[in-house]
Amino acid sequence: MTLESSPLIKGSPDYRDTGLVFPADFLLGAATASYQIEGAATADGRGPSIWDTFSATPGKVVDGDTGEVADDHYNRLEADLDLMAELGLEAYRFSIAWPRIQPTGTGPVNQPGLDFYSRLVDGLIARGIRPIATLYHWDLPQALEDAGGWTNRDTAHHFATYVRHVAEALGDRVAVWTTLNEPWCSAFLGYGSGAHAPGRTDGVAALRALHHLNLAHGLAVKVLREVAPRAQVSVTLNFHVIRNEDGAFGQAGNDEAVRRIDALANRSFTQPMLVGGYPSDLLEDTASVTDWAFVLPGDTEIIHQPLDFLGVNYYATTRVRMWDGVAPRQRADGHKDVGGSAWPGSDDVEFLPQEGPYTAMGWNIAPDGLEHLLLTLSREHPTLPLMVTENGAAFEDEVVDDRVKDDERLDYLRRHFTAAHRALEQGVDLRGYLVWSLLDNFEWGYGYSKRFGIVHVDYRTQKRTVKDSGRWYSRLIKGHVIPE
Ligand code: NOJ
Repeated sequence: MTLESSPLIKGSPDYRDTGLVFPADFLLGAATASYQIEGAATADGRGPSIWDTFSATPGKVVDGDTGEVADDHYNRLEADLDLMAELGLEAYRFSIAWPRIQPTGTGPVNQPGLDFYSRLVDGLIARGIRPIATLYHWDLPQALEDAGGWTNRDTAHHFATYVRHVAEALGDRVAVWTTLNEPWCSAFLGYGSGAHAPGRTDGVAALRALHHLNLAHGLAVKVLREVAPRAQVSVTLNFHVIRNEDGAFGQAGNDEAVRRIDALANRSFTQPMLVGGYPSDLLEDTASVTDWAFVLPGDTEIIHQPLDFLGVNYYATTRVRMWDGVAPRQRADGHKDVGGSAWPGSDDVEFLPQEGPYTAMGWNIAPDGLEHLLLTLSREHPTLPLMVTENGAAFEDEVVDDRVKDDERLDYLRRHFTAAHRALEQGVDLRGYLVWSLLDNFEWGYGYSKRFGIVHVDYRTQKRTVKDSGRWYSRLIKGHVIPE
């Protein structure tokens, strides 16, 4: 179907182009994650994950929402694939639910669970959409959490086995893999602040989890290289783009608060994965809470594996300063929960409010942060290509006469695509851009109260309605030019 004849596009405004062109091989697509869209939580032998347990625990998720039904994508696969094709997506980033493949995290493959992803991959390829598979987007099998979860080193080895099963089944068809999605969230929100599953609030557990996630990444890359030697392998990190008290992008070298958060949130992953070993300042900053004895000889080498590109998730910036120890400590950062023990060894860093405008999440809208991040990463890792694996925004949407006029989201996307384009023009090796998210979905601790989709989902009827931002994006993809 051509764009002009598509019912999605018909009647949409006739956008003028900005003249800002993306190269023909620049990959434009959208992203989702298993627990956030699939539903069908017990179908075909799927086991429970930590998010099933967490969301069923009163008080953990807004309105008591769970992923039990979500977008019912599991049962609506074909229609959702058609929707992607109609939008013209060139790539689709999805995640594979470990508890569908191994219901208790270990043991034999649950074939019906694997078959679902096989159908998804075939359906994408049949429609000319490139599959980008994320192997872990936070839905750890509950049985593994019962044995300590990511604080237990065995989990990293179980992950490698699970990756082998998946790669053996799909490695002939999936050309691009991401090991972990935002391991900072898994470690520090899952085990530190407790805002995410499994909801533990223990700073040392967060650091152990961080290390075992890094280890899991390294082991997974090795498995993928062996089983799918032609595939591209990456990891997706959520960078904290940090401003100092004055609001300027901080230099880790001359601002103590910036340096501390950069070490804990950014370099704790990039250094072991991309350079080798943990930053010495991170070890010093956290020495009062742990001696890092959980890092065993040989781990550094396992974690440091060559990657084909780095996945970058970007939404907003963070602003910090050192606390004077007297005034009430500020924790005003709307960008993810920073309470509890999310910052082991750095409780004396304050998170300050930032200039608006803001999205419905309370996150500040700052496209300059994306440009700064891409330039910084490309300067620090000049040979490593980059891909924006998530960017998008939540706003209050309303369906009126089958239409969602989400001007704010459209504007957010236009400004961030323009920022990425500026980075490209300055020589950054940026290979693609995936919008978060294809569909409105289960936004973790916020449940269904926050909508990130470029396609609206009516959770009562499961009806999908392409928002104006989706039509705009479809136009961008078609022309590889940013529309006005
Ligand atoms: C990052 C996460 O990967 C995704 O799951 C989440 O929904 C978005 N950010 C928005 O918070």
